[in-house]
Amino acid sequence: MEIAKGMGIDNPQEADECLKCHVTGHGAGDLALKILPESGVGCESCHGAGSAYYKKADMKAIFDGTVDGTTLGLTKITAETCTVCHNEESPTYKEFDFEVRVKEIAHPVPAAE
Ligand code: HEC
Ligand code: HEC
Ligand code: HEC
Repeated sequence: MEIAKGMGIDNPQEADECLKCHVTGHGAGDLALKILPESGVGCESCHGAGSAYYKKADMKAIFDGTVDGTTLGLTKITAETCTVCHNEESPTYKEFDFEVRVKEIAHPVPAAE
């Protein structure tokens, strides 16, 4: 609220200027309406819209390497995937070093027993 007030924004929870980085798919049209704003930054912010790759058979094929995930909308993640939000337009911007920050969010699939 303090940050928003300083920028002349009354309600940051409804302001495009804030939600575009704080809510998955904000501004993406009808589809995005199904995503609750309070869910914040979720899977599809980084991995891309899941509608074409979420099915178990497709996920398996992607993991087995028989299907290229990018053909089903799965993003090939690079530093640019992050810097659409982690940039100086953020009022609380902290320097963003991809190699360091990507380790902080690591969530590998556990190896099978
Ligand atoms: C360009 C993308 C972007 C925009 C626009 C943006 N934010 Fe953020 N915000 C971030 C990111 C990324 C972080 C994580 C910390 C960082 O690197 O700045 C963050 C963190 C924050 C935090 C936590 C800060 C902390 O130190 O814990 C607050 C509060 C916040 N934002 C409020 C706002 C408000 C209010 C607005 C609208 C006026 C806004 N943000 C607009 C990207 C953005
Ligand atoms: C902030 C960005 C971000 C978010 C949010 C995010 N991921 Fe990831 N995810 C990554 C990165 C980076 C990797 C590393 C592999 C890569 O580069 O694709 C990864 C890898 C994965 C992998 C593959 C792990 C492996 O061992 O190969 C799966 C599965 C996955 N994410 C699922 C999810 C799910 C489910 C969610 C939401 C609950 C989620 N991710 C949210 C960035 C993200
Ligand atoms: C859609 C915008 C968006 C994208 C894309 C995004 N982030 Fe973030 N990130 C945020 C916001 C906003 C926060 C603040 C906390 C929150 O709302 O969850 C944050 C928080 C973080 C944090 C912890 C808080 C801190 O101290 O900064 C890390 C680490 C991070 N992001 C890494 C990444 C990495 C690595 C990627 C790319 C693989 C990425 N993020 C992609 C918006 C984004």
